[in-house]
Amino acid sequence: MKYGYFDDKAREYVITTPRTPLPWINYLGCENFFTLLSSTGGGYSFYRDARLRRLTRYRYNNCPLDQEGFRIYIKDGDIVWNPGWQPVQTELDRYSCRHGLGYTVIEGERGGITARQEFMVPRGDNCLLIRFTVSNGGDATRSFKVFPYLEFCLWDAMDDSSNFQRNYSTGEVEVTASAIYHKTEYRERRDHYAVFWSNRPADGFDTSREAFIGAYNSPAHPKAVFGDGCTGSVAHGWQPVAAQQFDLELQPGESCSILFGLGYIENPEEEKWEAPGIVNKVRAETLMARYADDDAFDSAMSALRAYWEELLSGYQVSSESAPLDRMVNIWNQYQCMVTFNMSRSASYFESGIGRGMGFRDSCQDLMGFVHIIPARARERILDIAATQFPDGSAYHQYQPLTKKGNADIGSGFNDDPLWLIAAADAYLRETGDWSILDEIVPFDNDPSLAQSLLEHLRRSFNYTRTHLGPHGLPLIGRADWNDCLNLNCFSAHSGESFQVSGPSEGPVAESVFIAGMFVKYGRSWADICRHAGLEQEAEDADKAIAAMETTVLDAGWDGAWFRRAYDAFGQVIGGKECEEGRIFLEPQGMCVMAGIGKESGQAAQSLASVQEHLDTKYGIVLLQPAYTRYHLELGEISSYPPGYKENAGIFCHINPWIVCAEAELGHGDRAFEVYRKTAPAFIEDISEIHRTEPYVYSQMIAGKDAVSFGEAKNSWLTGTAAWSFLGVSQAILGVKPTLDGLQIDPCIPASVSGFTLSRRYRGARYEITVENPDGVQHGVKEMLVDGCPLAGNVIPVRDAGSTVQVRVIMG
Ligand code: GLC
Ligand code: GLC
Repeated sequence: MKYGYFDDKAREYVITTPRTPLPWINYLGCENFFTLLSSTGGGYSFYRDARLRRLTRYRYNNCPLDQEGFRIYIKDGDIVWNPGWQPVQTELDRYSCRHGLGYTVIEGERGGITARQEFMVPRGDNCLLIRFTVSNGGDATRSFKVFPYLEFCLWDAMDDSSNFQRNYSTGEVEVTASAIYHKTEYRERRDHYAVFWSNRPADGFDTSREAFIGAYNSPAHPKAVFGDGCTGSVAHGWQPVAAQQFDLELQPGESCSILFGLGYIENPEEEKWEAPGIVNKVRAETLMARYADDDAFDSAMSALRAYWEELLSGYQVSSESAPLDRMVNIWNQYQCMVTFNMSRSASYFESGIGRGMGFRDSCQDLMGFVHIIPARARERILDIAATQFPDGSAYHQYQPLTKKGNADIGSGFNDDPLWLIAAADAYLRETGDWSILDEIVPFDNDPSLAQSLLEHLRRSFNYTRTHLGPHGLPLIGRADWNDCLNLNCFSAHSGESFQVSGPSEGPVAESVFIAGMFVKYGRSWADICRHAGLEQEAEDADKAIAAMETTVLDAGWDGAWFRRAYDAFGQVIGGKECEEGRIFLEPQGMCVMAGIGKESGQAAQSLASVQEHLDTKYGIVLLQPAYTRYHLELGEISSYPPGYKENAGIFCHINPWIVCAEAELGHGDRAFEVYRKTAPAFIEDISEIHRTEPYVYSQMIAGKDAVSFGEAKNSWLTGTAAWSFLGVSQAILGVKPTLDGLQIDPCIPASVSGFTLSRRYRGARYEITVENPDGVQHGVKEMLVDGCPLAGNVIPVRDAGSTVQVRVIMG
């Protein structure tokens, strides 16, 4: 069952009922100001950091779902309704929500009145704009009242949801004819305030929640709206809100629009005040003046559309499959941008107060984003590298506002260092910008410890190389990519964190997964050394990698698949002797992607075992058999009920590893089969089972051991976005940036006769046609570049600005 449809031409998903199984959201903003917005108008805004600079309040885990947001109430006689249905839930005659790239349009109609809210965060300004247009489609004059409403957050979202003894007394606002200024803490420690405005004077306002909503009412039944209108309240403490009232009259066929905005303003210390106690509003007024009318809104919207058009033009495919094209050309790339911006901080599943930016997460997100805006990827690599420690290990997370490593969680996740190599390598292959290696970057955010980025990568490699366990495999430390395998933790008491309690650094527990990473990204390191003229160092790395490969095929091979790890007692995890957790997905993906056992047959055997033991109709589960009891020596993984999350859920992030691994072996049919099982546009028809948005990936789909097999959770912020894009764009469609140029190496189903693709690469444009006359899955028989045959399949780098015609004949 579907709850809407894709409008590919408009690059929108159109939701046709407000009763989606869960709120289906969009992200507005791609620089510093962000808004999460649901299909009914729920959501919240923040400036840069969802924890430290939250502008509006949102309560998670609420009932009914999705109460707070950017609401507009229309009071038409005795009837009150919202264009987005929530929160009053008055039935509408018509409803639609169009989620587009960086904007959303919600439209509702009732009793002959149509009301539309167009939401966007304009490029270059720190604000959310909402254009409200209301039309009278009937044949009588209509008078009604309109009330926009939102609730302010007292900035630090963590404090806001816990420190009530203080913050019930601190809230402060100022009000003018058309604007409400939220200035809590501005007097003391803040140089910023928020402003909600309308482009015409309001007929009334409220800034105290109690006055507008009522102490015992809910947003579904605001006292002011259902009663006599706004009261002119000025909040002192308690809950400051922004509510306005407009009394409208429309002739038959008449429309009118009001432009609302929510802005974030910073003032330098010496310009904070206009008069004692009165906020200096000059910057806010300049912002409001910029968006004073429909023309300004329309041109900001056109600029936003043009911006996305340009960004997405970096990779556009035209194939025989509409869902493939819409994933690749629109939604997967869009999600890559969002995960790059947010990491795992703020979604409808991530509260924005729990986690900052993840080291490994951001490195992987960047791999799916680097072709979109390479300059931002460059900056991010340097920020991440600055949170590395001098020994090559790294802070596991950092706060986006301060860019400082998060000491609460600390370090010890032993896969982190290698992801930095993966990210830098992706950047170099995309851009050829070798100057990044010379950038001087602090260790531990301490400028006195600064070294070149090249030195950072060297220490990443050496950290793994020098932290080996009894079998010669890398020590796992606190955990590797799988945060839930806490082999050194032994958490037996409630209240402890699996990830940070216990003696987290052990000398015995080893990870086959990190060994696979070491081979894969160690090769990247060796290539980088070679290109940088460090031949000796490259050879040295090659030796360490070859030795690791041997170790993996020895201590890491179980007979029919790769083992997962050795625990702190030296026992095998993910091997045939294990009663539960006999086979894991991660090492099969990573080791085969690294090419381990490719010649000697273990790689193919490993993937056959995945298909045999882990595959399901909704995707590949992380392990089998699921853990049915708590294993103290394994940690959090066995704390999840069978079929959920890392305990045998379909962990979407690592399904594309199998896509890449299958392509590594030339299995085009199987690579595509795995790809399409979790790709949202391919499973739109089962939205009632899947439940999360059909236009973006979720972190997890419940596995076959779960009661709710097929139900997804944690949509939007997941490494699945980047890895799926790598899987489809590089492994299947086969357009791979290398250090020496663009390689074309498709691996597609035998039934596909070809496709065309346009790719921007190092400033040139490649117009690629792939033909598959012999119906093969892999292999390039002939390649013509601007009509001339090319030896091999790597096209040497072309001049920026040029257009290159490429014809690829598979066979
Ligand atoms: C979450 C984390 C990611 C981790 C994965 C597996 O998605 O953000 O860092 O690798 O879970 O545990
Ligand atoms: C839990 C989750 C895992 C996530 C981690 C982040 O372990 O199961 O998916 O990566 O928390 O802190």
